[in-house]
Amino acid sequence: MSERASWGSKLGLILATAGNAVGLGNILRFPSKAALYGGGAFMVPYFIALLLMGFPLMIIEWVIGRYAGKHGHGSMTGILGLFFNHASWARILGSIGVAIPLLICMYYIYIESWTMGFAFLSLFSQMPKPVITADAHEAVKPYVSFFKEYTKPSILAYFFLVLTIAINWFILQKGVRRGIEIIAKIGMPTIILLGIFLGLICISANNWKGFEGLKFIYNLNFSKITDPVVWVEASGQIFFTLSLGMGAIAVYASYVRPQEDVVKAGVYTVSINEFIEIIIGASIAIPAAFAMFSGIAIPELAKEGTFRLGFMTMPAVLMNLPFGWFVSFVWFMLLFLAALTSSLALIQPLIALFEDEMKWEHTKAVTVSMILVTIGAHLSAFIPNFIDELDFWAGCFMLLLFGLVEIVVFVWIFGINNFYKELTQNTTLRLPKIVVWITAIIPPIFIFLILYFWVIKDFNSIISMVDSSKLIARLFILLFLIFLAFIAVKSRSIVMRDIRYMRLMKK
Ligand code: PHE
Repeated sequence: MSERASWGSKLGLILATAGNAVGLGNILRFPSKAALYGGGAFMVPYFIALLLMGFPLMIIEWVIGRYAGKHGHGSMTGILGLFFNHASWARILGSIGVAIPLLICMYYIYIESWTMGFAFLSLFSQMPKPVITADAHEAVKPYVSFFKEYTKPSILAYFFLVLTIAINWFILQKGVRRGIEIIAKIGMPTIILLGIFLGLICISANNWKGFEGLKFIYNLNFSKITDPVVWVEASGQIFFTLSLGMGAIAVYASYVRPQEDVVKAGVYTVSINEFIEIIIGASIAIPAAFAMFSGIAIPELAKEGTFRLGFMTMPAVLMNLPFGWFVSFVWFMLLFLAALTSSLALIQPLIALFEDEMKWEHTKAVTVSMILVTIGAHLSAFIPNFIDELDFWAGCFMLLLFGLVEIVVFVWIFGINNFYKELTQNTTLRLPKIVVWITAIIPPIFIFLILYFWVIKDFNSIISMVDSSKLIARLFILLFLIFLAFIAVKSRSIVMRDIRYMRLMKK
């Protein structure tokens, strides 16, 4: 059997996982959702979800990832199999945890390519000229039509999509240590520096009027506390931004040394991600919009779509500043770097599936994975609304559901005692056992309740709102799930053969 990949250093491991978690979710999705659901009113369920689900699940994925890595598995197909003697049903269930990141990647990488395209357009002064007006709609108008023209998709958009896919392909081909880790070591410090620079610019813009934007986010209030949609969206955001509920953290954790302190690593991952979300992410897009337009326009602007705020509102604001082209370039570069370190993490679970379960060699695993990503990215580019449909099902609903599966299997079925033993191995942060009990009980109830109330309120209307592009997206999700289930079953005999071989060797 060939050696599994591993991280080169402790710092590299922390930065790679931080790069995994920090992405478009922190700088684009977070402000859009906060704006859409009332700023401070959104932040109450957000913080509760962070504490009750984000933190515990992060630690669980790290602990289980290290445990599974010791047994030669990194993808959720193999990990779930590991807990049930590789029964086919468990492997099939696990393959949902490989499908989710891949489905997300299929639109994520397309948005990533916009960020690179817009960075170049800013650098070469090809963005529309700003309109000087206090009317938000008038100011944003040229950028809205520019964006719509670009994402039709234009030839330029297509070119940058191909380039983005090629860059991801190249880095993943280099592998975990010489590809992902090196990019994270360059990318993460740059992201933090660019982020602080932009945050300061946006907050101080227009005589510190941007500060109002921060107040809008941090004026915590309970006005939406009974709305299940806000709870689902806030919890979905926690899962999305922390890369949880899809095995994307576990796969990175599976490449650590067996004696690595994963509890500490988990705490670092959450801290760095939340710093870049609620400090830096909160200080850019919303303050910028507040500085230029009145606060009333904010929810209106956010309605354009989750990931679009940054491509229309932001350039309208930034291009108005002195050296606007440069600030706009910095903004899109920041987005691109954040997105790149995340898209790598979205593809790695599938690569791990091919390598660990099918025993394919690295190049074959990367090639097949990238071909699948390329097909999906084309659908995102050419089918209208494909992005939002995938973002809802894979980027919110399935995450919550699979998060629930993870807790049930990794804590309940593995056993409180077994989990606690793994948790306290090689760590300086020895948590008391009661924490495991709380983790086993509270987050599942929490997820169950929000899904339950939300299904009662909204599920029917969402299911019945169909048009042809939504139908294609749902059909595609289904086909992809079936395809991965097929691989999960097919690879079972390979894994079982290896297990028998190992037993024989021991004798
Ligand atoms: N957490 C990333 C973000 O905030 C998205 C992501 C999810 C990346 C899952 C990898 C795996 O953008």
